[in-house]
Parts: sequence; structure tokens; C-alpha cells
Amino acid sequence: MSYCSKDGRTTISLEVDGKRVKAAVSPRLLLSDFLRGPCAAKGVHVGCEHGVCGACTVRVDGQAVRACLMLAIQTDGSRVETVKVLGIADAMHPLQERFQARHALQCGFCTPGILISAQTYLREHPAPTRRDIEELLSGHLCRCTGYTPIVDAILDAAELERR
Ligand code: FES
Ligand code: FES
Repeated sequence: MSYCSKDGRTTISLEVDGKRVKAAVSPRLLLSDFLRGPCAAKGVHVGCEHGVCGACTVRVDGQAVRACLMLAIQTDGSRVETVKVLGIADAMHPLQERFQARHALQCGFCTPGILISAQTYLREHPAPTRRDIEELLSGHLCRCTGYTPIVDAILDAAELERR
């Protein structure tokens, strides 16, 4: 439960990428800034800061959300997951492995948000069509790839996970 101190800060307690976090935050602090700052979750990228580019996408209690459109205090008591939960270099998630194999990233700025969106979507839709993935990606801006390799990588990963 959150509570407000005399300086106007509110103490929140939540889980971020599997770790318990307790912090006193300004009620106006965006979730994206909270994650990148006090939580050092640098995989949360910030582009437009108004819900358009999708770079800041994270999961809150299982739902993919724009971290720039939420306040940190709204996640009190929640489980927040960033791209860090997918995998590491030696043990990549199928999405990461297929992104690498398909050259589905160049600068990588859009990638963490897309990976979180794709992973969340595939949990509910394990056999998506190409059109489904194109629609999913309509919520993400990528200035480098032209999207085709991203769509290919997500479809590959879905197939891998169905095996
Ligand atoms: S930074 Fe959040 S959607 Fe662009
Ligand atoms: S890889 Fe550069 S913005 Fe998508």
C-alpha cells in the first residue's frame, strides 16, 4: 500500500524484473523515468513520451503498457517486467534468437518494446497470421528495418514455440 510523506512523495512497493523495489517517488513521476532512473532498467527506451512510438513498452501485471503513459505510483503493488525478463546472451528467448538470425534490428532503439509486445501477444495468440503481427507492430515505430524482418522473426519465434 502506498503512503504520502510530508514532502509530497509517495512510497511505493512493487516487483521489477523479479526484484522487490520500494521507493519514495513524486506522484508525477512517469513509470518510464522511474524504471530507467531508480530501477536502472535501461532496456526501457524513451522516444516520443506520448504513447506513439512504443519504445517504452513494458508489462504490468501481465499486460503490455506504455510506460510513458503511466505514473510510477500506479504500479504500487504490481509486477513490472521489462525486456530484461526475456533472456540473456547465453540463453536467449526464441524471439531474441530469431531477431538476431533475421537481422530484425539495426539501431535497436525500438527492439525492447517490440520484444515485450510480441512476447505478450504470443502468449494469447500462439499461431498468429502475418497480418496479425503487422497489426501488432502498428503500435511500434521502427525507423531502420522496414518492419519485414521483424514480422518474419516474430512469426519464426511463434512457430518455434509451438514445437
Ligand atoms: S516513449 Fe512511450 S510510446 Fe514513445
Ligand atoms: S531498429 Fe532502429 S528504430 Fe527499429
